[in-house]
Amino acid sequence: MAKAVALAYSGGLDTSVAIEWIKEATGAEVFAVAVDVGQQGESLEDVRQRALACGAKDAYIIDARDEFAKDYCFKGIKANGMYEGVYPLVSALSRPLIVKHLVKAAKQFGCDTLAHGCTGKGNDQVRFEVSIQSLAPELECLSPIRDLSMTRDKEIAFARKKNLPITIKEEKNPFSIDQNLFGRAIEAGFLEDIWNSPDHPDIYTYSADPDPSKPAEEVVVKFEKGVPVAVNGEELSPADLIAKMNALAGAHGIGRIDIVESRLVGLKTREVYEAPGAVALIAAHKELERVVLEREQMRFKVQVEARWADLVYDGRWYSPLKKSLDAFIDDTQKYVTGEIRLRLFAGTAVPVGRRTDSGLYDFNLATYEEGDQFDQLSSRGFIQIYGLQDKMAAARDIRLNGEL
Ligand code: ARG
Repeated sequence: MAKAVALAYSGGLDTSVAIEWIKEATGAEVFAVAVDVGQQGESLEDVRQRALACGAKDAYIIDARDEFAKDYCFKGIKANGMYEGVYPLVSALSRPLIVKHLVKAAKQFGCDTLAHGCTGKGNDQVRFEVSIQSLAPELECLSPIRDLSMTRDKEIAFARKKNLPITIKEEKNPFSIDQNLFGRAIEAGFLEDIWNSPDHPDIYTYSADPDPSKPAEEVVVKFEKGVPVAVNGEELSPADLIAKMNALAGAHGIGRIDIVESRLVGLKTREVYEAPGAVALIAAHKELERVVLEREQMRFKVQVEARWADLVYDGRWYSPLKKSLDAFIDDTQKYVTGEIRLRLFAGTAVPVGRRTDSGLYDFNLATYEEGDQFDQLSSRGFIQIYGLQDKMAAARDIRLNGEL
């Protein structure tokens, strides 16, 4: 039986009720852990006060926005990390960091058990618990919504009975939302009918509707070794840089994604995301890589990126393979330094200019104008040798089959 529990606390209904719920079910003390990854809304102090008012023995509250931006989102950018080719891993990137702090808090408060408020149907329960197994295998894990059968109706009745100081809205939220500095994930409600278009005005807060009557805007993003460091010449902290790109790209409706997604637990679900900064930064980063990376290295990296995104999506942030892939990715980034000019217009972020001292693009070799240094005559011999394998095979086909 648990003696002391560290609970990942958001300040919302589920985790506020979970404090008393866990105390009653296990007899343990509960410590609330709130990690600011840029989800906005309430101040950390308000979150702390609510946790204490709802029965927490103490609270661990941390502003982890720059840590999240630098050590998690920027790794996502270096990896051009997009699950199923389109989802920039917004929620998936935050879970390993939250678990890192949860474990730290548990050690500080002397807890023997960790708890989270995920449902039993999603990826997040997997990400929490697999990360816990890597970082603190000695700690038990409790999932009150899943394991202690909490439901919204039961939660509300319990909150009223216990007089918990939380405002309960009569209507259910129209969607289930998870948001942080890197973007927002919106699901459930009317989106569950996958024929419905994602046009509801309440869905989006990081982006305006794409508007072709709004003039295009150009923005210059500077990268150093694969990570963005400045926007329009202004050097910014990691968190401020992502926030700035959210504002700039969001104003042009960039980064809205509507997909039917394959969850690790086997379900297909409909997810809507808005991640304006992430989508624009990855577009710029990919373009700089096109100039800098050698062809084979770039092609191989595309395969690594897909595997990396799968591992992160699947909760394997702390796995050996993910770490090895990070080492490969970091090696590819040593010359990814330079600037990309992006054109933001009506929902699109398109690279239109590139500038770097470490690229492989050589004007004198590429030019068709005066001063071309490429030895065109050598191409003749190259093509003869290069095509030899196909020539031999084709000759055999004709010899044995009479046709190609
Ligand atoms: N499907 C996404 C993921 O697994 C987002 C889940 C976030 N949760 C939410 N309540 N919208 O990364």
